[in-house]
Amino acid sequence: MPNAYISGTGFHVPEDIVTNQDLVTRYGIDTTDEWIVKRTGIEARRFAPEGVGTADLAVPAVQMALERAGISNADIGMIIFATLSPDHCFPGSGVYLQHKLGLTDEGVGNFAGCLDVRNQCSGFLYGLATATSMVQSGSVDNIVLVGAEVHSAALDLSTRGRNVASLFGDGAGAVIVSATEEDRGIRSWHLGADGRHADALSQKVFDISKRPFIPLNEEGVGQVAPDYMFAHMAGRLVFKHAVERMIGALMKEFQKQSLTVDDVDLFFFHQANLRINQYVAKNLGLPDEKLFHNIERYGNTTAATIPIMLAEAQGQGRLERGMKIVTVAFGSGFTWGAAIIDW
Ligand code: ACO
Repeated sequence: MPNAYISGTGFHVPEDIVTNQDLVTRYGIDTTDEWIVKRTGIEARRFAPEGVGTADLAVPAVQMALERAGISNADIGMIIFATLSPDHCFPGSGVYLQHKLGLTDEGVGNFAGCLDVRNQCSGFLYGLATATSMVQSGSVDNIVLVGAEVHSAALDLSTRGRNVASLFGDGAGAVIVSATEEDRGIRSWHLGADGRHADALSQKVFDISKRPFIPLNEEGVGQVAPDYMFAHMAGRLVFKHAVERMIGALMKEFQKQSLTVDDVDLFFFHQANLRINQYVAKNLGLPDEKLFHNIERYGNTTAATIPIMLAEAQGQGRLERGMKIVTVAFGSGFTWGAAIIDW
């Protein structure tokens, strides 16, 4: 059985930097930099311009990851795309990415399978577990795993929506999960979910149990009320469960691998709220320098946070062969996951 390891990382964020103060001046939201920084650690986020979709953001991230892995389009055996903000209701963003990458071009003709993962903030880790299992099965040698989000199009950028709108940003991160005979790679993973809280963090733009699935006005045009159009979040409940589940998932992984915090070189926690992560880190006795973060610059990019961090850490020379890293995420569903990787 081959080992599965991350052979390349890449990321891409849009140019437009939206600071907390910009939420006030550009969008007229009644908030302050102090309120947002104090509760979340977020100072700015990136917003994609109109006309740029989720698969578009993913393209340069994947290209960087392919280059760092030293492989080309022709070597891609599978695409796994994690997002909660897909380009369209269907098909998933994976096939759009495949086409935009040029895999379907004449001369390449790579019709690799495309799988979309719908697991919100833990989507990257659900994708990583899937990619790892596929590679270890010996069926595929190189998998492109992407987490990408265009949140800005679906945020209620008004005072009404400030509790959610101030948290999220756009971005894409990608890794290549490859087969190797070397003694390295993704050692173990843990996934979990608690569907009792599915509604606590949700965006119910349509309801397929209704006829029709979106209400129509007298002219027969679909009408989505703000309560349905934008995400709803029970912030404090999410905070409480995030802390409990992240600690629980990490403890499980540590036990499975007989590890302690001291054995780990770097931790990559999902970037939903710096305060959640600091609370978890303090509970586990984890020193600040072992906790990589970038939420201050990008906000919560959901499925993209972990691969963006991995790509930034690699670019900064902070990820070296032989290091042990741990990653954990929690989000809507509720769903969560963790993984231990020998880099
Ligand atoms: N600026 C100013 N005031 C605000 C803002 C804002 N941006 N947002 C909310 N408020 C106000 C509220 O309106 C409320 O006012 P009221 O008391 O007059 O009604 C007050 O602040 C307190 O609101 P809470 O929501 O109770 O604020 P809280 O202290 O809980 O902090 C926060 C909110 C930061 C969102 C916190 O609950 C949190 O981080 N929760 C977890 C978020 C998270 O992890 N999400 C998961 C990932 S997302 C995913 O999976 C897709």
